[in-house]
Amino acid sequence: MSESIPHSRTRGYYGAFGGMYIPEILVATFEELVAAFSAAKADPAFWREYETLMSTYSCRPTPLTYAENLTRHFGGAQIYIKREDLNHTGAHKANNVMGQGLLMKRMGKSRVIAETGAGQHGVATATMAAKFGFECTIFMGEVDVLRQRPNVFWMERLGAEVVAVTEGTHILKDAINEAFRDWVTKMDDTHYALGTACGPHPFPEMVSWFQSIIGKESREQILARTGKLPSRVYACVGGGSNAMGIFSGFFDDPVELVGVEAGGLGVETGRYAARLASEDASLGVAQGYKTYFLQDGDGQMCETHSVAAGLDYVGVSPILSNLRDEGRVRFEAARDDEVLEALSLTLRKEGLIPALESSHAFVQAFKEAPTLSPDDVILINQSGRGDKDIFTVADAFDDPGWKAFVKEKAEQYNA
Ligand SMILES: Cc1ncc(COP(=O)(O)O)c(C=O)c1O
Repeated sequence: MSESIPHSRTRGYYGAFGGMYIPEILVATFEELVAAFSAAKADPAFWREYETLMSTYSCRPTPLTYAENLTRHFGGAQIYIKREDLNHTGAHKANNVMGQGLLMKRMGKSRVIAETGAGQHGVATATMAAKFGFECTIFMGEVDVLRQRPNVFWMERLGAEVVAVTEGTHILKDAINEAFRDWVTKMDDTHYALGTACGPHPFPEMVSWFQSIIGKESREQILARTGKLPSRVYACVGGGSNAMGIFSGFFDDPVELVGVEAGGLGVETGRYAARLASEDASLGVAQGYKTYFLQDGDGQMCETHSVAAGLDYVGVSPILSNLRDEGRVRFEAARDDEVLEALSLTLRKEGLIPALESSHAFVQAFKEAPTLSPDDVILINQSGRGDKDIFTVADAFDDPGWKAFVKEKAEQYNA
């Protein structure tokens, strides 16, 4: 079990970041959660139960794939890929959700709510709810409902109610606000399974702890396969949970950690979500915690953009904000067009379909691999699989066969 997740001894503060800025009415609920999480974390049987669940219900340990063809293509560092896409439901989100499901059982809660952007966390939560017999409501910005329709379809088939959020700019931050609004009215039986390493304490630490299973496995696997530690580890950063998960395996090692944010149409255009890779974000308090937010001078949240629905969040994990300021993690931004190019190359060279979110990490690794030596090993976290992105990717490549198929389907439905 990873002990290297920065652990806050001061009510969820990591340097100047984090905290617990919650309405009075939620204080007792948070106290209960903090107590349940602390007890679970201190109980080795809980982590064993979690590992058993993940190895029998999801696909843990997920494999580590040597990307032989990409390595040859770039002619520099050996490229290894951690395959979180092979989790049940197709992304690292399952790690966090199944862990919170076990915690809910301990707390005796019967209803789970969650926000989702790309829909991966929503599908994972609806799956967990079906398995454990919980009622489930998922909040999703209307924009994301439209661009991630396949995931909405599966959430509903799994028995969840999906609420399309039409407040604000209709994306992830608005879904989070709506989930908090729901929670305030139904605290007794409901747990809010926040999907990333953000929000009020204990969520950043708790989500990172469940995701640390990625880093723990990766460290063991890379040492067993190559006999050495990687020179660099790359992960995309939305709220920061997959990055925290894989990085936590290497915090205490001389390994460079690289977080890759959404560069959107280019950092200079302002149509992006690069909070830590740019100097544009500023310290603020929103959604229950303090971190770097993309906000205007009046503290109003800015509109964000990314080709990847899971990366267009205005805030970022307070733990990562602190690690950036401490110089422990380097942050970069990948543009939408670079992301689509990296996805294409990975498909063609390795037969892998990384999610658009994960493809951000591939962009930066591909830029740096040729500058390193063949003795270097680098590790990329493939946080999820790209099947859900079929509409976005088909649009981007203007795929004529896909367009004809969708048109024919639409005609069938009109008939
Ligand atoms: C596949 C995938 N990767 C990454 C992310 C970003 O989230 P996080 O930064 O919490 O890992 C998402 C979010 O929806 C996702 O679906």
